[in-house]
Amino acid sequence: MSVPAGPHIVVAARLADLVHAAAAQVCAAGSAAIAARGRFRIALAGGSTPRSLYPALVHGVDWTRSDIFFGDERAVGPGDPQSNYRMARETLLDPAAVPAARIFRWRAEDPDLDAAARDYETKLTASSEPPWLDLALLGLGVDGHTASLFPGTTALTEESRLAVAVDFPGRGTRRLTLTYPALCGAREICFLVTGPEKATALAAVLRVTHGGFSTLPASRIMHRPGPVTVFCDADAASGLPERVDRALPESQAP
Ligand code: 6PG
Repeated sequence: MSVPAGPHIVVAARLADLVHAAAAQVCAAGSAAIAARGRFRIALAGGSTPRSLYPALVHGVDWTRSDIFFGDERAVGPGDPQSNYRMARETLLDPAAVPAARIFRWRAEDPDLDAAARDYETKLTASSEPPWLDLALLGLGVDGHTASLFPGTTALTEESRLAVAVDFPGRGTRRLTLTYPALCGAREICFLVTGPEKATALAAVLRVTHGGFSTLPASRIMHRPGPVTVFCDADAASGLPERVDRALPESQAP
């Protein structure tokens, strides 16, 4: 039985090497999109891991010809410490002086999050056609979630809408997230996964058995047809016994 190809896995012993490799791939995707279609449409990942990557993107993309979206957002205002937009603004949007017109923020402060999700779908699809994204940057949670696609939530069964509001399980709050149709439809997908606490989840979402890949949310994206690269450090990769496509030697550090 042929095993699904699965993602290309890049492991680096040092974070500097990983950031260098991931930034090179994102910047190459940006240059290719702008050359081919005149603009680069990217969805940024949230959480804390991307804080190490985003400064390395500041000078590598023509952000005046890029549309910046967000894979998901917490139900907070843009200045809230929990805001994914705020994290990106501090590490990339402000340092790169990205024009405000090129930044497409979720209206996460809206008390009506369902309306905010519909508004975001309109932003994502305006003046464009599928694939809506050239590149989706994603992280991985210890429970196998990505974006705000959490195990056991209704967002996992959404097959037509591109953006939805979801309950954040066990937290009594809600979030906004792009759905599988939006994320799996991106021309290219890059995951950035670091830290020993992610080793179990990464091994689980990458594992393929005779029954196929796991039902954890990130699995469906990692095993989608089309280019997927998982950039991970040695700690996060420690649970990957056999298939590591490419280990970056320490000597590759910039
Ligand atoms: C979020 C992200 C989420 C994140 C993972 C990993 O809003 O938190 O979209 O999917 O990528 O939870 O988070 P860390 O990078 O903080 O480990």
